[in-house]
Amino acid sequence: MARLSDEFISEVLDKTDIIDVIGEKVALSKKGKSYFGLCPFHNEKTASFSVEPERKIYNCFSCGEKGNVVTFLQKTNNISFIEAIEDLAIRANITKDFSGFKKANPNKKLFEINEAANTLYKLFLSSTKSGIEAKTYLVSRGISNDIIKHFELGLASNEFDLLHKTLTNQGYLVSDLHDLGLVKKSKNERFYDLFRERIIFPIKNEQGNTLAFSGRTYKGKDESAKYINSPQTKVFTKSNVLYNMHNAVNEIKKNDRVVLFEGYMDVIAAYKAGVKEAVASMGTSLTKDQVKLMKKYTNNIIICYDGDAAGFEATARAVIMFEQEKMNVKIITLPNKLDPDDYIQKYGNSALLDYINNKWIDPLEFEYKKSNMKIDFSKMLDIEHFKKTIFDMIKNASNTVIEAYIKRLAEDTKLSIESIRQDFNQYTKRNISNVRNVYRNKVDVQDKYTYAERRLVNYFLDNRKYLFNYNKEFGDIFHINENVRQLKDIVEDLYLENETKEMDTVEIYNSFIEKLTEAQNDFFSNRCINKDLQLIPKEYDDLIDTINEYQFTLIVARMEQQIKEAPTLQEKIKLAQYRDLKIKEEKYGQR
Ligand code: GTP
Ligand code: MN
Repeated sequence: MARLSDEFISEVLDKTDIIDVIGEKVALSKKGKSYFGLCPFHNEKTASFSVEPERKIYNCFSCGEKGNVVTFLQKTNNISFIEAIEDLAIRANITKDFSGFKKANPNKKLFEINEAANTLYKLFLSSTKSGIEAKTYLVSRGISNDIIKHFELGLASNEFDLLHKTLTNQGYLVSDLHDLGLVKKSKNERFYDLFRERIIFPIKNEQGNTLAFSGRTYKGKDESAKYINSPQTKVFTKSNVLYNMHNAVNEIKKNDRVVLFEGYMDVIAAYKAGVKEAVASMGTSLTKDQVKLMKKYTNNIIICYDGDAAGFEATARAVIMFEQEKMNVKIITLPNKLDPDDYIQKYGNSALLDYINNKWIDPLEFEYKKSNMKIDFSKMLDIEHFKKTIFDMIKNASNTVIEAYIKRLAEDTKLSIESIRQDFNQYTKRNISNVRNVYRNKVDVQDKYTYAERRLVNYFLDNRKYLFNYNKEFGDIFHINENVRQLKDIVEDLYLENETKEMDTVEIYNSFIEKLTEAQNDFFSNRCINKDLQLIPKEYDDLIDTINEYQFTLIVARMEQQIKEAPTLQEKIKLAQYRDLKIKEEKYGQR
């Protein structure tokens, strides 16, 4: 890769007016020799950002950001040095071929094709009859022309192959369209468009290259999936992309926080509310890569998932992932099971903004709220369980936090502060001495169960019905072994990504193997596969029974512990009777 000469760079800089360039992004007003405006690198109300045309530099007296016109473009557009110079050269009418100076990007062609598709989708929405109908739908959801423009929303026609025809006429190769998942091949060898009659959301990377699309149905009742996404391609890996990152990145830096949502529509709702540092994961549970992507720009995260039970569970999982990366987490729990978009429809834009800025809770509070929701306070077992959850949660916290939660527990359970405090002290003491025993027991007893669970991975890979059935039976977060959970998540993502397409087992298997880390691969090949055992539905049912049995042993173990800890004989007897009833029910299949 060649270097640009110093002479050339000086020529470009000489022909550049720094006030013009920065003025595009910052409203500047002249004071003496300098120009002042609101700093684009941090949030402020008084102008401390100055640009000096003579020295050709900018400087913020408040946050300390400084540099020249090149660094300004690099930072605000997230581009490389060469790209910034190229931009300035174009502005200054200096013609030069920069291709030899930039790292060759093998994906450039593919991005260009996606861009051409995006252009067609946008045009189709803005200037056709079907577009008018689609816009009526968008307007009914509070999406104006400005928002359509900002998010570059488009529309796929209901024609079988409009995109295919148009782009091949423009000279693009059908093989490239196929590789990008834009077109598919029918049984009789005809190409047809993946997206038809859907509102199109382009999905971009941080640099603004279009990687993929998501398409939403908009015509009343529809049998097919609400959204379909482009498949995994050379330029698109769902697990490491966040929707709207491209628009959000400068806002994230400026506000030093990112707000994470579940859906595209929520990001759009947030934008209406004035929250521009908003991103969404791509419809599956958050991945480590996505966490890392956010961490590149800020350590502060606000999770704003849907206010329903699924949203709560997803939030709990996300919190763990952010805390592993030592990020500061705040959580929004919207009332009445609303999602952010519903919330805005109901209470208006500024109410959502207020919620996000002022009504967040911290992870402890969230955990408390989440456990609290599930409790029937008339049931002693429920209360016992709730207390332990909270004791576990606060046992390593500061005394202030411990005291605060003991007080809340007392209020919510209508027990005295003293008795809760006593229980807590007893619980933490006992816990320390019990840890080793409990652990030793677990290792032996679990073997048959963990075997069953590992064996199940083979079924998950064999057919989606096994996996989704498992989720239905146990909830998609229940697992004995974390490694198995990770493997299952990977398979599940593959099924979800390919939901519109029938993949055969070999295809799934190969894509699965590709996604494993070395450690996961070791675990999978050494502990999960038994090649000599055939997969049969009967075995699957047995494995499920085994896992069920395991879950039941957990319940019994918890009851035993509660019996042991019950303060009076009377309570012990009551709990023991309850335990016996449950065991009987389990035995005679009355679950
Ligand atoms: P609206 O339902 O139009 O308000 O969109 P939403 O973005 O709020 O969707 P929702 O909350 O139902 O789902 C959250 C995200 O999950 C969506 O933005 C999509 O990324 C993804 N998603 C939802 N439904 C589907 C589906 O049927 N298929 C796929 N692949 N993804 C989906
Ligand atoms: Mn929604």
